[in-house]
This record gives sequence, C-alpha cells and structure tokens, in this order.
Amino acid sequence: MPDEKSYSPGLEGVVAGISSVSEVDPEKSMLIYRGYDVHELAERATYEEVVYLLLMGKLPNRKELSEFTGFIGHERHIPGDLMDMIQAYPDTAHPMDALRSAVSALGLYDKTTSDLSHNATVEKAMKLIAKIPTIIAASHRFRADLDVVDPDPRMTCAESFLHLLTGKKPDPLAVRALDVSLVLYAEHSFNASTFAARVTASTLSDYYSSIVSAIGTLKGPLHGGANEEAIKMMLEIGSPAKAEAWTLEALAKKRLIMGFGHRVYKKGDSRVPIMRKLGQELGEKLNQPQWHQMAQIIEEVMWREKKLPPNVDFPCGYVYYMLKLPIPLYTPIFAASRVAGWSAHIIEQYEHNRIMRPTNIYNGPKEVTFTPLEQRP
Ligand SMILES: CC(C)(COP(=O)(O)OP(=O)(O)OC[C@H]1O[C@@H](n2cnc3c(N)ncnc32)[C@H](O)[C@@H]1OP(=O)(O)O)[C@@H](O)C(=O)NCCC(=O)NCCS
Repeated sequence: MPDEKSYSPGLEGVVAGISSVSEVDPEKSMLIYRGYDVHELAERATYEEVVYLLLMGKLPNRKELSEFTGFIGHERHIPGDLMDMIQAYPDTAHPMDALRSAVSALGLYDKTTSDLSHNATVEKAMKLIAKIPTIIAASHRFRADLDVVDPDPRMTCAESFLHLLTGKKPDPLAVRALDVSLVLYAEHSFNASTFAARVTASTLSDYYSSIVSAIGTLKGPLHGGANEEAIKMMLEIGSPAKAEAWTLEALAKKRLIMGFGHRVYKKGDSRVPIMRKLGQELGEKLNQPQWHQMAQIIEEVMWREKKLPPNVDFPCGYVYYMLKLPIPLYTPIFAASRVAGWSAHIIEQYEHNRIMRPTNIYNGPKEVTFTPLEQRP
C-alpha cells in the first residue's frame, strides 16, 4: 500500500516522464527548446521557426520554413458552421471557454480526428496552430459587435493575430514584441497544462481532446491566467509611488501576488529578463515608463520580503497592456503560443506511450456497516 512518505503534494519533484522537447534548468535559470537556449531563439528566431523546431525536432532551412509558413497561412480559415457556433456563444462566455469549446468543435469537422499516427498528428497541430488565433479574434470581435476580419495568408503568426484582432495592418514594433512573447510562451516542459495534455493522450484519446484538456488547465489563475491577474493588480495599484505600500499591505493580508513564484524556478524565471527588457524598451518608445518602474518596485519588495522572483506572466501582463491587447485575451494568447509545445508533447506521448495512472492514499472511512434506505436518518 502507498504510504505518506511516498506522497509529494502537487506532485512536486515527481519525475512523470522523459522528454526531448525542452529542458528547464532551475539552477542556471535556463530554458532550452530541443537544445537551443530560449534567449537565443527569442533574439534570433521567429515564432514560426520555433514552432517548426518543436514539432519537427530541428530548425527549418529557408525552403522548409517557406513551405511551413505557407501552409499555416492558408490554414487560418475556420469552417463556416464553426464561425456560426462561435457567434452564438453567450456574450458572457469567458474567452478561454470559447476557445476550449471551439477547439473541441473543430475535432468534429476533422475526418482524421481518430488517426493518432505521427504524420496525421503533426498535420493536425499545424492546422490548429493556424486556426487558434482566428478563433480567438472572431470570438472577441463577435462579442464586441465588430465584423470578423478575413485572415491574410501572407502574414506571419504575430502579424496576422494583431490584424485579425484590430482589422488594421499592425505596427512592426507591436509585431516584434508579440512574436518574442509567443517564442517565450511556446513550451515549458511538464507544466500543468502540458501534463494534462499528456495524460489525455496517454489513454490514446485523440489530439483535439488532449488540447481541450490543456486549454482547460491553462485557464486557471495559478497557471496561464496569471498574466491577466498581474496587469489587473498593477492597474489597481495605479502608480509606481503606491507600489511598495500596496505590495506590503497585500502580503500582510496573505494575498497572492500574481505573476510571482514558480514551482520549478526558485532563483528566477529564465524568460523574465527578455520580457522585462522588452517591457522597458516598449515603455520608453511608447512613453509609458510607469509600468516598468512599478514592476521594478514590486519585484524588489517581493524579493526582499518573500525571496520570490517574478515569473514570465508578470512582465508579459504589462507588455500586452502597452500593445493595447484586450486583457481577457492575454491567457488565450498564451494558449495560441503554447499549443506548439502541447502538440510536441502529445506527439512524443503517442510515440512512447504508457497510460498515466498514478495512485493515491485513501483517508476515508473504512468497514462502514450498510444501513438500508428505510432505516437511514
Ligand atoms: C506558481 C505557484 C502556483 C507555485 O506554487 P507552489 O510551487 O505550490 O508554491 P507554494 O504555494 O508552495 O509557495 C511557497 C510559499 O510562497 C508563498 N507564495 C508563493 N507564491 C506566492 C505569491 N505569488 N504571492 C505571495 N506568496 C506566494 C506561498 O504562500 C508559500 O508560503 P508558505 O510557505 O508561507 O505557505 C505559486 O507561486 C503562485 O500561486 N503564484 C501566483 C500565480 C502565478 O503567478 N502563476 C503563474 C505561474 S508561471
């Protein structure tokens, strides 16, 4: 029988699999995608190159990249019936629930849904990576009583996303900032949503069901939802002058400071320096230095008081705010990027599968005498 000694709450430190997709090194605060440092990828590669790397295991050459981006560009449309379904979702629907439902429905339209072979899964992944931004933008524009924008196949993922949301040709500065954030969000080893995707895939359920599990898991504020909560917190604080007192009071009230802490990184999140620098540069260019200033103060107080560093969701919150992205879309945008990592893990799970079925310690009542219905109080 399992005993308390073998139990790790929240599965902390439990090795749940072997993977060649990415490596998190908490000691060096490093994140590696298939051998490449994410810092180098964020600086020198585009999101499309990173998606290719995650799905295919190697960086594309020029021809491969051109074919890959061409395919994604032409797969951005979604079936008309699904568009009608998205339009019919209630106005109150949470964008992550709308995304989860639409991805689930996409599985109904794919004749290859039950084909779990390598090639079929890679193709499904490429199509879904193309379609998720269209779903997010359409769902947003329907709710805002705006006409849905037709995707332009020639645009990059970041460019197209901003175009689908706003209907305008996006500013190159915003495209670059969004692209860097997509690179950083694309993959992060056995985090909760990836693990959820792998558990579903491990039952030999289909690709769409595995992604739906992941989207539902990412939604929570302890995971992907933290980027939205982080900017809401900064908006509540209001100005750098109020940041220290606000943070101290929140800590005294035992409030969680969103965008801080991490299960694996205890010394610092590898992705934060890149996002922080981007936040500072954007703040200077857009004449909004207050967000980076406020963030620095909160970071300093959190380290001094709790020894807790920020995670990537903290700077991402104010970067997305400066890009004028609607706050309820921050977590769906995270999903639009992380679908690349989820897909790579689902492919890996299918290739080396054993059903995930952990065990637990029972702490309920034992040997209870059965009372017939008519005699129960
Ligand atoms: C990320 C997170 C879920 C990790 O959880 P975890 O590994 O279980 O960490 P713990 O909850 O055990 O944290 C250890 C201690 O730090 C505290 N702590 C952790 N994150 C905190 C935060 N953001 N604000 C205030 N205190 C925090 C915990 O309360 C706990 O204190 P205690 O030992 O006095 O009980 C957690 O840090 C958190 O909730 N952060 C805020 C949400 C967030 O930013 N999520 C995005 C993750 S990428």
